[in-house]
Amino acid sequence: MKVQDKLLGYQCISCEIEYPIIPFRYICDCGENLDVIYNYPRIARHFFKTDLLSSKDRSVWRYLPLLPVKYSPEHTDIQVGGTPLIESKSLADSIGLQHLFLKDDTRNVSGSLKDRASEIGIQHASEQGQHILVAASTGNAAASLSSLAAYHRKQAIIFAPASAPPAKLTQILQYGATLVPVNSHYDDAFRLSFEFSQKHNLYSRNTGINPVLSEGKKTVAFEIVEQLNWLIPDVIFVPTGDGCIIGGVYKGFYDLIQLGWIDKMPRLVAVQSEGSPAIMNAIQNDAPIHGVDSSTIADSISVNYPRDGLKAIRAITDSGGFCITVTDDEILSAQLELSSTTGIFAEPASAASVAGCKKAVESDMIRQNDSVVLLITGTGLKDIPSAQKKIQLPTPVDANLDDVESFLKSRISGFSTS
Ligand SMILES: Cc1ncc(COP(=O)(O)O)c(C=O)c1O
Ligand SMILES: [Zn+2]
Repeated sequence: MKVQDKLLGYQCISCEIEYPIIPFRYICDCGENLDVIYNYPRIARHFFKTDLLSSKDRSVWRYLPLLPVKYSPEHTDIQVGGTPLIESKSLADSIGLQHLFLKDDTRNVSGSLKDRASEIGIQHASEQGQHILVAASTGNAAASLSSLAAYHRKQAIIFAPASAPPAKLTQILQYGATLVPVNSHYDDAFRLSFEFSQKHNLYSRNTGINPVLSEGKKTVAFEIVEQLNWLIPDVIFVPTGDGCIIGGVYKGFYDLIQLGWIDKMPRLVAVQSEGSPAIMNAIQNDAPIHGVDSSTIADSISVNYPRDGLKAIRAITDSGGFCITVTDDEILSAQLELSSTTGIFAEPASAASVAGCKKAVESDMIRQNDSVVLLITGTGLKDIPSAQKKIQLPTPVDANLDDVESFLKSRISGFSTS
């Protein structure tokens, strides 16, 4: 399909003014964020569920008719997306649910869901003749852009808080991107990166400002529906900082409803850290979003002012969902429980969806027989010090079998040497 056949333009999510899709149009003149608007009737005449059934492409590019770019990139053999949806009986039992699924986006190329946005953003930039991409990030979006820019032979300039986990900063440099570590919080890194990209006419891959990025993130919703054989889960838990991921998940379900492929939206639940509750505050007080002084171990959802807050609130309210907050201690316990029951090592922000789900079950905000999907958005391997807060490395044993056996006797119940 030609891009002009599938796209109608951008529309402001607040004042609803429409704009053509042209280079350097990121936000509305009123300051709010934009949505990509599709010509659904036309897409529905060219794109069918059966196309998906017969497609061999497991990556995000299998959904090209619903993406705001002309082509899929020349090289797609790295596979962004196509991550597993894993049913976990043991975690379900422990949380008190009957049907629990984990969407394991730690398996993406750079270890997080952000690869979905970077992959589409890089192609979008290319089609606009832009080969230098600028981003601010708490870590994962930067690592993701750096990784995929290396693969697609683009240049990435990253603004990140100097306090981001060293593994994430290292990852950026490892991929050969240019890192600007900012001696301040994420919000300042964000502001600087946008000012810099505007001043020098460079492409901005900034979460919560560039509408094309939610379009990449929405592919996770398409995959969930396909993986559940077109059954819609009752509830999806999404760790939320800026609100771009939950906004993208909403957009994915919205697209499928517009095409007439599904008839309902799951309840979308934003899980925030108690130390970073800007969206929770707005929902609870039915008030505009106000910035907070965020402080949480879950660095990826540590945000003072959410850049995609309105999209997040729309996702929560239109889907009949809710927002829930969890403490750092609940996050770390959930992180350990997730790893030890499912084999998935998630970073603290991702484990927030597990902690939020537990809390929602305990407080009867969801039903035990609801089918629930938890978005596991990023790998824990990038932040070992946080995980180490709940585990203790054992004292080494001397290199003889007797010591090994008494060591194991004290650790494995029922272990006997006789
Ligand atoms: C692993 C992970 N989970 C969740 C989030 C939160 O996404 P958003 O800021 O779009 O709400 C992020 C964002 O950086 C992330 O990296
Ligand atoms: Zn507007």
